[in-house]
Amino acid sequence: MSDLTDLTDLSRLVVAANRGPVSFAIDADLGGEPQARKGAGGLASGLFHALRGRGATWIAAAATDGDRKIAESGDAEVDGVRLVLLDIPPEVYEPAYNVVANQTLWFLHHDLFELPRRPIFDRHWYEAWERYREYNELFARRVATAAPPDATVLVHDYHLGLTGSLLAGARPDLRTLHFSHTPWCEPGQLAILPSTARDELVSAMCSFGACGFHADQWASAFDTSVRAAGEVPPPLLVSPLAADAEKMVEVARSAECRAARRALDARFGDSYLIVRSDRVELSKNILRGFRAYAELLDRRPDIHGRVVFLALAYGSRETLAEYLAYRAEVEHLAQSINDRYGNDSWSPIVLEVQDDFVASVAALTRYDLLLVNPIRDGLNLVAKEGPIVNEHDGVLALSPGAGAFTELDGQLEVHPYDIVQTASVMATAIDMSPAEREERAARLRASATARTPEDWLRDLIAHAAPTRGASAVARSDRQLLE
Ligand code: G6P
Repeated sequence: MSDLTDLTDLSRLVVAANRGPVSFAIDADLGGEPQARKGAGGLASGLFHALRGRGATWIAAAATDGDRKIAESGDAEVDGVRLVLLDIPPEVYEPAYNVVANQTLWFLHHDLFELPRRPIFDRHWYEAWERYREYNELFARRVATAAPPDATVLVHDYHLGLTGSLLAGARPDLRTLHFSHTPWCEPGQLAILPSTARDELVSAMCSFGACGFHADQWASAFDTSVRAAGEVPPPLLVSPLAADAEKMVEVARSAECRAARRALDARFGDSYLIVRSDRVELSKNILRGFRAYAELLDRRPDIHGRVVFLALAYGSRETLAEYLAYRAEVEHLAQSINDRYGNDSWSPIVLEVQDDFVASVAALTRYDLLLVNPIRDGLNLVAKEGPIVNEHDGVLALSPGAGAFTELDGQLEVHPYDIVQTASVMATAIDMSPAEREERAARLRASATARTPEDWLRDLIAHAAPTRGASAVARSDRQLLE
């Protein structure tokens, strides 16, 4: 049997994730046939790059009409990856994805519940948990039928936490690993979940052959919270996803990106450019970033008119009220800072909300200061991608709430909650000598490129292990999957 870690033949490798590496759009101009487009998020770029042309199988939920058309006609093959799309009924998908995955588990792991109001574990939520289990069953069943004997299965993220015990029952021959792209919550936080759901989740997670995280802090939170819930954690892996440096440099050099960069240069000239590039997610701390900038403008009239904060903030999960409200607050705060400090010839903040990957790479090539100040973030790939493509000896201001913090070298540390301290860090960056900028940028680039997506994939494959017995799942999963 070939060793999968040499990555030459990955036909015995199965990836399961809510999102696929590409999604399909139906374009009427192209005869109504679904066309593949790059999927959203870091997993799509990093992992897909490493899998290309190697015969792996990727199982994902169909998310668009184009995806559902592909799902109907069987599996698709994209760049040498077999793509299996599950057409999950909306009455299962909606509550599983929105209510449990996004509104409950995502908030839990990012420590973002506003506890006097949320979460709300009412009858509607308990029903949603049933749907979440069904969603996990649909994935587990498909993995069980699609995976060749003795295959290695890499399951990604909080959407699929329950597949561990299901696979343990159905396919004991598989080697499995669950990888969390989010943080893991602190032990006390896990007790917020209804105890039945908490026990089911913890038990299922402990059924995976191994569990992986981007950073030590999340792995140790998992270890402690699982033990506090009375379970024994499986072997843990800490392996941060690497940025796809080759791809980023290729995009940065492309004609389209160079044109976007010229447009930026024409627009901002030699202004000191502070950039941030995030999805509008509550964890990204965009509001405090703006408030810190306002504090800086209060302190430093000398920089007025010479500095611009270009905030690329792309819409995310806009079916959820929390996200819509956050986006409205981000837009409102940017406007009020512009009204207060700006004038006819200077907008202190330029907020761009459309998702334009090439334009954001162009901004990353140009920044003088990249602000990445999340409250909690599993990794934060932008903190690595920025230093890889930046051509201005830009400074990185990074919060230790990002998993990437401990891996990188050369950044300035910002305290995610402390607006005064963040403003001081911005001032330090603005006043930094060219020599120090150059030296820090070199260290950042070296640390951001120390590993490749292939290294990360090899780590995951090498640590996947036979599934472990599930203790708290009452029914026979083998029967369930037949
Ligand atoms: C956040 C999390 C990731 C997760 C992603 C899913 O960014 O940090 O771990 O994979 O959300 O986003 P989606 O748009 O697919 O819900």
